[in-house]
Amino acid sequence: MTYRELINKYSETIRSDYELELEGIEFIIQEITNFSRSELILNLDKNVCNIDLLSEKLDMYCIKKIPAQYVIGYTYFYGLKIYVNKNVLIPRFDTEIVVEKVIEYLQNKKKVLRIIDVGTGSGAVAIALANNNKESVVEAVDISEEALNTTIYNSMKNNVNIRIYKSDLLDEVDGYYDCIISNPPYIDEFDESEGLMNIVRNNEPHLALFSDDHGLAHYKKLIKQSLEHLNDDGVIFLEIPDNKCDEIVKYASDYYKEILIYRDYNNLRRVLRIGVKR
Ligand SMILES: C[S@@+](CC[C@H](N)C(=O)[O-])C[C@H]1O[C@@H](n2cnc3c(N)ncnc32)[C@H](O)[C@@H]1O
Repeated sequence: MTYRELINKYSETIRSDYELELEGIEFIIQEITNFSRSELILNLDKNVCNIDLLSEKLDMYCIKKIPAQYVIGYTYFYGLKIYVNKNVLIPRFDTEIVVEKVIEYLQNKKKVLRIIDVGTGSGAVAIALANNNKESVVEAVDISEEALNTTIYNSMKNNVNIRIYKSDLLDEVDGYYDCIISNPPYIDEFDESEGLMNIVRNNEPHLALFSDDHGLAHYKKLIKQSLEHLNDDGVIFLEIPDNKCDEIVKYASDYYKEILIYRDYNNLRRVLRIGVKR
């Protein structure tokens, strides 16, 4: 069987399932064969090596509907290889914007900064920040011990020094920070209109997805707790879903004077920068 035939076969399998994408098939083939995209195209009419392994992995994605990143065991985030498993959310491309905005913000600061990633999961955000700000002191917390094992693994694999520990939001955190960053769970589990895909609901950790109070509970608690843990000129960066932006901004305005909203590449409101305590 050639690579073209293999791709056609699995494309046909996923044709009626809008949650599965050709991109997932190509990602699996490229990672297993070590082909770049152009090498895959050049080799389309060559016979497949490793057909058993490839079929096994493609079955996991196309038939068992397991996300391609879990099938392969890693993803790429901000140019880094981040290992993932069922205990951690797969870092999303959208979250790279949070990292980008934090890095932009930190560039203008001269001193050594203390920053913390709350709900770190795989550690993707904390690791990308530590990798780009070697001088800063980076901490990462999560409520899930299983997730934290993956954070530790990823920090070692990427050779960054991060203080990693368990905490329910900022409950176990001591002292003051220049920057508190979080991409907390924000989906209302019972609201059908959230449009949560089955492949996400059935595979990714619910602890990473759902939040009470219509998806706002984590934001509210973190915004309030941050008052006790931000330096006077410190800021909070939050990844947000566009549909909850107004409510989060309204809530944060009771406690902070300065709120900036950044949009993503789809022009959706995606990141908040919150600062200056009232
Ligand atoms: C949406 S995921 C984000 C993971 C990662 N930061 C990213 O952006 O890819 C939310 C993370 O928050 C963690 N979490 C959920 N509730 C928490 C809490 N009360 N305190 C700390 N972490 C929590 C979950 O375990 C999960 O790792």
